[in-house]
Amino acid sequence: MQFFVDTADIDDIRDLAATGLLDGVTTNPSLVAKSGRDFFDVLKDICAVVEGPVSAEVTATDHETMIAQGRKLAAIADNITVKVPLTWEGLKACRALRGDGTMVNVTLCFSATQALLAAKAGATFVSPFVGRLDDIGQDGMQLIQDIRTVYDNYTALDTKVLVASIRHPTHVLQSALIGADVCTVPPDILRKLAQHPLTDKGLAAFLADWQSTGQDI
Ligand code: E4P
Repeated sequence: MQFFVDTADIDDIRDLAATGLLDGVTTNPSLVAKSGRDFFDVLKDICAVVEGPVSAEVTATDHETMIAQGRKLAAIADNITVKVPLTWEGLKACRALRGDGTMVNVTLCFSATQALLAAKAGATFVSPFVGRLDDIGQDGMQLIQDIRTVYDNYTALDTKVLVASIRHPTHVLQSALIGADVCTVPPDILRKLAQHPLTDKGLAAFLADWQSTGQDI
């Protein structure tokens, strides 16, 4: 499974990319607003650090303007993935941008039938939002399972399932068990994946015992 980081914070991206574990980045208009920076400058900086797909979202709601915005964004770097919302207009824009050879991430997916449409429109990635479904009392991970099943039923569909709106490490584990292709994870949760209290406790004991030997490596 691939790991993308869900942020527009270039310092976090640099830090996480240094681990070699980062396969891509997703941004959205809210994350760009949070960064307080110019959208194009942020994207240029991110693409200079990360070789994998970097999602950049259009802000228009009609397909002609989405396509025009998508083409501007795609011109920033070869690894830009244009993000379009899962609406009829977004699906039309997806088809056109894929025709240009641009990677497209169809976002704001909340049902398996929406995901089926995204795949038929040629999406490179579909982004189901698990946390936002959990927030309203629905089962976000069941949606990932359903999309996986639908896509696996039709081998001609090659859209990747990109699990979004991740709230905790268990979402990542469940995504891996289901066989999702990618998880886009907020930086703090990505770091938490490496943590375990028994790791910390074990390390402290090893270091104390080592110190008692008086040796050096
Ligand atoms: C995905 O691409 C979105 O940017 C993101 O995962 C949304 O997450 P949220 O529900 O925490 O805002």
